[in-house]
Amino acid sequence: MNFYVMTLFPEMVRDGLHTSILGRAADSGIIGIEAVNIRDYTLDKHRHVDDYPYGGGAGMVMAPEPIKRCYEAILDKRGKKERPRVVYLTPWGKVFNQTMAKELAAEEDLVFLCGHYEGIDERILSEIVTDYVSIGDYVLSGGELPAMVMIDAIARMVPGVLTNEESGMTESFENNLLEYPQYTRPEVWNGEAVPEVLLSGNHQKIAEWRMERSIDRTLTYRPELIRGAVLDKKAQKYYKKRLSEADLPDSKDNR
Ligand code: ADE
Repeated sequence: MNFYVMTLFPEMVRDGLHTSILGRAADSGIIGIEAVNIRDYTLDKHRHVDDYPYGGGAGMVMAPEPIKRCYEAILDKRGKKERPRVVYLTPWGKVFNQTMAKELAAEEDLVFLCGHYEGIDERILSEIVTDYVSIGDYVLSGGELPAMVMIDAIARMVPGVLTNEESGMTESFENNLLEYPQYTRPEVWNGEAVPEVLLSGNHQKIAEWRMERSIDRTLTYRPELIRGAVLDKKAQKYYKKRLSEADLPDSKDNR
């Protein structure tokens, strides 16, 4: 899968994405990450990428022409007939999640458009953008960090990017449940022991304990997720028990 990032800060994208799991996948050719500098596609001698907004107001707006030329250079390089999906990172886009990451991972190529300043001329957005995406309800200084966040999450879903061991790991948001707590050596640290069941070697008990802790954690931190989870009989029983406990007033109020 190929990721193309249209940006004014190509080094930031390159440096950020060529480490760890993604760096390994890029080195082995499973994914391609190309950061393309929009400024290389300006036509004036001062290499301007922005201008004052029509109608007045603070800040500058990114001009359409360099972005159009940058996009066309990517299309030429790709040399394919059908147009790729183009994601514009913006706080008013659809909020990114794991389901969207999985869906986008099925694309052969994805193009990201990173904005800066007060935004981008609407005419180029309506011409090339297929997906408007936000990574959360807060405002960042530019689209590079959101693009990097998305590329990391999407690339992990591409077959071959994770080793068997890595993809076998139960991850948060798999089946709408958060990940259970993990422990490593030493067995007692800071006066606190590792839960005994994890030392038991009883795989069924361990799986059960982990499922229960996943449900606990989801109910505590992201209770709205659990409606979308598929729970087996044992998990359902535990979930119902937790709910009934939550419904009871605590013993003090009960007196
Ligand atoms: N650009 C600025 N803030 C953003 C956000 N929260 N998500 C995506 N793109 C952005």
